[in-house]
Amino acid sequence: MQIKEIKIFAGVGKNGQPDLVDEITFTMGDVISIVGPTGSGKTTLIDDIALFADCNTPTRRRVLINEAPAPEDFMNDPSQNPVAFITQHTNFLSDLPVNEFLETHADIRKRPDISSVVRETIEFANQLTGEPLNAENGMTELSGGQTRALLIADAVIISNSPVILLDEIENAGINRTKALELLKKYEKIFVFVTHDPRIALSSDFRIVMENGAVTKVLYPHDEELAVAEEIKKIDDLMLHFRRLIRSGERVTGGII
Ligand SMILES: Nc1ncnc2c1ncn2[C@@H]1O[C@H](COP(=O)(O)OP(=O)(O)OP(=O)(O)O)[C@@H](O)[C@H]1O
Ligand SMILES: [Mg+2]
Repeated sequence: MQIKEIKIFAGVGKNGQPDLVDEITFTMGDVISIVGPTGSGKTTLIDDIALFADCNTPTRRRVLINEAPAPEDFMNDPSQNPVAFITQHTNFLSDLPVNEFLETHADIRKRPDISSVVRETIEFANQLTGEPLNAENGMTELSGGQTRALLIADAVIISNSPVILLDEIENAGINRTKALELLKKYEKIFVFVTHDPRIALSSDFRIVMENGAVTKVLYPHDEELAVAEEIKKIDDLMLHFRRLIRSGERVTGGII
C-alpha cells in the first residue's frame, strides 16, 4: 500500500483536556517536528502513530492512513508495517556482526541487491556518527550514537520505510545537521521529536505539546526562516568547537 497521508484526530491530554487542534495531516515528503517540555506527551504522540491508534490508547486519538483505518497487516506482519520508530532508548539484543545482521535483514526484506544495500546502509550510518562503525564488530559493541545511526540507516535504506519516527536523536551522538541533510533527499514522512531549534525550524511545521495535549501547530514564517539562518551559523560554530574538544585539541579565538 502506498502511503499518501496520515491524519491524526484530536484526543485528550493528561487531565482529559482536549487536543486543541482537531486534525493534523502529514503528507508524503513532509518533515514534522514535535516540540514541548519534558513530560508533555511528545513520545506518547508518536506512539499513537506507531500503534495506528484508533481511540484505543490513553490519549483517545485516532490515526487514519489515506483516509482509512490502518489495515490489520500493518500491525500483524512486521514486513508490511510502514512505520519505523527510532526510540529514545535503544539497545540491540543480537550480538551478530553488523554486516551479518544487515544481510539477514535485507534478505528478510527480499532486497535483490543484498551486498550493495548493506554497503550503502553502513556508509549512511557512518555519515551520521562521529565515530565510524566497523561492519565486522558485534552489534552489542556499538556505542549509543552508532546504534541509533545504524537503526536510522537501516530504516531508510533496508526497510525503506515510508514513515520514520525519530525520538530525540540530538542527544544520541548523531550529527543532526548531516542527518537532516541526508534524510531530506528521501521522499518519506519524517517525524522528529526534538528540543533542537535547528531541526524544528527546518521542518515543514511543528506540533506543540503541553501536559499531554496538542496545543498548536506552527508553520515557520519569514521572520523565523531568517532566524533559522542565524541559528545555523551559531550551531555550525558550536559543532566546530565540539569537534576540537572531542579530538583533544585546544580551542583558539578569533573565529567570531
Ligand atoms: N494524552 C495523554 N494521556 C494520558 N497520559 C499521557 C498523555 N500524554 C502523555 N502521558 C503520560 O505522561 C508521561 C510523559 O509523557 P511522554 O513520555 O510522552 O513525554 P515526553 O514529552 O516524551 O517527555 P521527554 O521529553 O522527557 O521524553 C508518560 O507516562 C505518558 O504515558
Ligand atoms: Mg519522550
